[in-house]
Amino acid sequence: MRRKLAAGNWKMNGLRADLAELQTLAERHSDATVDILICPPATLICACQETLFDIGGQDCHAVTAGAHTGDISAQMLADAGATYVITGHSERRADHAETDSMIAAKSMAAYAAGLSTVICIGETLAERDAGTTLDIIDRQLAGSVPANATAYNTVIAYEPVWAIGTGKVPTLAQIGQVHAHIRARLTARFTDGDNMRILYGGSVKGSNAAEIFAVPEVDGALVGGASLKADDFSPIITALAAS
Ligand code: PGA
Repeated sequence: MRRKLAAGNWKMNGLRADLAELQTLAERHSDATVDILICPPATLICACQETLFDIGGQDCHAVTAGAHTGDISAQMLADAGATYVITGHSERRADHAETDSMIAAKSMAAYAAGLSTVICIGETLAERDAGTTLDIIDRQLAGSVPANATAYNTVIAYEPVWAIGTGKVPTLAQIGQVHAHIRARLTARFTDGDNMRILYGGSVKGSNAAEIFAVPEVDGALVGGASLKADDFSPIITALAAS
């Protein structure tokens, strides 16, 4: 039985004043039947410790400590109160030239620190137009997801790059096809692959959440823009709980 997960990725947004949004969210969802994860900027992780929610980092370094100015290790995230970390977000892959093997190394560092990972994969528009979506998914799954991934320490997020922050969403059939494909790959590779959660991400909003959550093998969402305000994230959580 896979527990549903609503994950918010605040990206490079959020000051201490914005923690009031989490307070509001907590008041509305104190009896939530789904898991709720908030990934604020690293500067707010300590301040989030009092919230009801799981807290995650948005990236981590592959090593525990050392001369890496500006980077944060998985152990530091855990020490600050995080229980999750996102690895391989397409913005990291694009902005910081992160490769599949780097993402696998970061994910292994996360496991070693006792964190769970949300490992992101997804095709660009050019790759979709070229008909190579499933090949890209296969390559990213094989390269980014470590061999010691389990349903306990790993969540996969399918995020088509062209759907992130654009308001464009794949058709439900397209989402269903990719999620079914990911599920088949996970079950073939991992003994508990059937229990690994697969999130959809990319322009999820209150208005489209229910139909996306009705797609088979969609176990929740990774939400960017619509996770910043309680009024926007709350209906997504409600839709997930009702799905
Ligand atoms: P979006 O971002 O919901 O703003 O499209 C999703 C993500 O990047 O995780």
